[in-house]
Amino acid sequence: MEKPAITSQPIHTLIQQRWSPRALSGEPIERATLQKLLEAARWAPSRNNLQPWRFIVAAKTDEAEFKRMFECLLPGNQKWAHNASALITVVASLVGNPSKPPTQAFLYDTGLAVGQLVIEAMANDIYAHQMAGIDREKIMATYSIPENHEVICTIALGTMGDAATLVPPFDEREVAARERKPLDEIAFSGAWGAAF
Ligand SMILES: Cc1cc2nc3c(=O)[nH]c(=O)nc-3n(C[C@H](O)[C@H](O)[C@H](O)COP(=O)(O)O)c2cc1C
Repeated sequence: MEKPAITSQPIHTLIQQRWSPRALSGEPIERATLQKLLEAARWAPSRNNLQPWRFIVAAKTDEAEFKRMFECLLPGNQKWAHNASALITVVASLVGNPSKPPTQAFLYDTGLAVGQLVIEAMANDIYAHQMAGIDREKIMATYSIPENHEVICTIALGTMGDAATLVPPFDEREVAARERKPLDEIAFSGAWGAAF
């Protein structure tokens, strides 16, 4: 199902087409395609070129690995993310960060990298659904993630599935309209709150 953004201005098709479905097909994604998505993330800009983003990949084709990451999702996300073809957990690294205390740039930069990954996914007809509903402590322990690293989210990836396969309330959410704040509420000029 397509749910293109109803935009106030014409924007790039990939951005317009992107959304976060829960109904994914479960069909395998080739390793080379996953590597493409990671390569897109790799070329994100970052403060001092520190490249704080790290990714842990669990493809459905490797059942045991997929299960291990799937079991780190909170129950609400497990109700639909079993349809994903791959899960990627995103970690932000503070190693080598010169600021004491560290600035938030490592989080910002990691988000930028995920933004690129998600758009590259779209260019390959793969949808990405990011999840903050994860058990961070379990992820830290499962993958022996060292100190000075922060688990950010896990991304469910896959080609489009059938909304009818979702359990409530996700079936209804899947077909609900997509909403955004108007530009006037988020872009200012001259003074805070004065619409650009
Ligand atoms: C960092 C982040 C965490 C999110 N966590 C969850 C989550 O745990 N479960 C979920 O179903 N959706 C999650 N989402 C998806 C958002 O709800 C979704 O992106 C938002 O409603 C906008 O919808 P759209 O992506 O389809 O435009 C998350 C998105 C982001 C960016």
